[in-house]
Amino acid sequence: MSGPGCIIRAEAAGDEAAVDALLREAFGGPVEADLVRRLRADGDVLLTLVSEADGDIVGHILFSPLMGLAPVRAAALAPLAVHPSRQRAGIGTALVREGLARLRQTEVDVVLVLGEPNYYGRFGFDAERARAFRTSYDGPYLQALALSDAGRAARGPLRYAAAFAALG
Ligand SMILES: CC(C)(COP(=O)(O)OP(=O)(O)OC[C@H]1O[C@@H](n2cnc3c(N)ncnc32)[C@H](O)[C@@H]1OP(=O)(O)O)[C@@H](O)C(=O)NCCC(=O)NCCS
Repeated sequence: MSGPGCIIRAEAAGDEAAVDALLREAFGGPVEADLVRRLRADGDVLLTLVSEADGDIVGHILFSPLMGLAPVRAAALAPLAVHPSRQRAGIGTALVREGLARLRQTEVDVVLVLGEPNYYGRFGFDAERARAFRTSYDGPYLQALALSDAGRAARGPLRYAAAFAALG
């Protein structure tokens, strides 16, 4: 559950147009919608969830694989979006928590996110931990959360899925 009347479920075939519209609305442009379309086309989606309220998709989260640390399994959280009319109602929090729970079950070891530390810190994401890695997004907004001992011990260079390179 992500609030009154909301359910969280895996994104399904047929959701693409609604997710596309939601991402354009939430981010005020096409960049993240294009990113998600490209990640799907490339088969670079590890997990993607939607939050649905009264039949409408009001929130979306996607995790893609990060390469370079095998056998350690790493994932990138991006993007996360909640429809502007539904923000600050706990939907984003519920999507992150459900996503992380599902990644734990599928034995992902570490998750990286590029975002506002005040927001992602509440889930345990930490910029200090992210310094163990080298990525194209290094800096104070890159945060990491270990989901296992292997994730806690992991370090080294990580490569984002090809779709991220198109972001420039
Ligand atoms: C960022 C976003 C996903 C948060 O989702 P949400 O459902 O509005 O967030 P929640 O209701 O779960 O917020 C939980 C808390 O985070 C705070 N918060 C929300 N957005 C925040 C932000 N951008 N920075 C810092 N804190 C934020 C809220 O005030 C709330 O605090 P509280 O629990 O103390 O009241 C949503 O606002 C959004 O889609 N924004 C536009 C797109 C975007 O910037 N996405 C993130 C980058 S990938």
